[in-house]
Amino acid sequence: MEDGEPGRHGPKAALDADAVRAAYSRWAGVYDAVFGGVSAIGRRRAVQAVNRLPGTRVLEVGVGTGLALPHYDVGKRITGIDLSTAMLERARRRAARLRLANVDALMEMDAEETVFPDASFDVAVAMFVASVVPNPRRLLAELKRVVRPDGHILFVNHFLAEKGPRLWVERAMATASHSLGWHPDFAFEALLPPADRNAARYESVPPMGLFTLVSLRNPPAL
Ligand SMILES: C[S@@+](CC[C@H](N)C(=O)[O-])C[C@H]1O[C@@H](n2cnc3c(N)ncnc32)[C@H](O)[C@@H]1O
Repeated sequence: MEDGEPGRHGPKAALDADAVRAAYSRWAGVYDAVFGGVSAIGRRRAVQAVNRLPGTRVLEVGVGTGLALPHYDVGKRITGIDLSTAMLERARRRAARLRLANVDALMEMDAEETVFPDASFDVAVAMFVASVVPNPRRLLAELKRVVRPDGHILFVNHFLAEKGPRLWVERAMATASHSLGWHPDFAFEALLPPADRNAARYESVPPMGLFTLVSLRNPPAL
């Protein structure tokens, strides 16, 4: 397999789309209470970064229960997609309850293979999603396609520690990936081919640097 080919760097027990749907139909009811707190700073940092970027058309992939939706500037027009009906249902209720007029659509769709034409968005953002999708490299390729030249792609995620005790804990937790619905042993290389790994900007995010905000820019049009 070529180095840039999807799958080569993926965790051993990659979740398929049905496993993702099953995991998140179990998680949906308790997701905000269990995961909303620890991930709040990372989500806020990512949305603040989106708000600072030029352009109005924002794609949020793996929008989940819509925890980020209230934090976008009103000038940003948001399209959210997710594989899980149960998670999306909560996002829709949140958008309606808070009357979020800048949320254009919340759609059930696979982020690895969307229906959007090329260059449909100025920014794509994936928060705590890259380690959940069945094929992270395919996700990256699809986001590069639907974001315009010179547009931005942002990820915030937990990435495998490169050394120390956290590496051992995360490797041990990886055996539970199917029920967790994410991969504690998700490495940067699973998402980013070497050229993107070098070009990306990285910001460590609390608590305890557990998460990283990764920013990539599409090349400008020729
Ligand atoms: C850990 S949750 C993150 C939710 C939200 N981004 C947040 O910050 O709370 C991961 C979400 O990604 C969704 N997901 C996983 N694979 C996907 C795919 N291929 N396409 C679209 N959504 C996907 C799951 O259904 C789930 O809602």
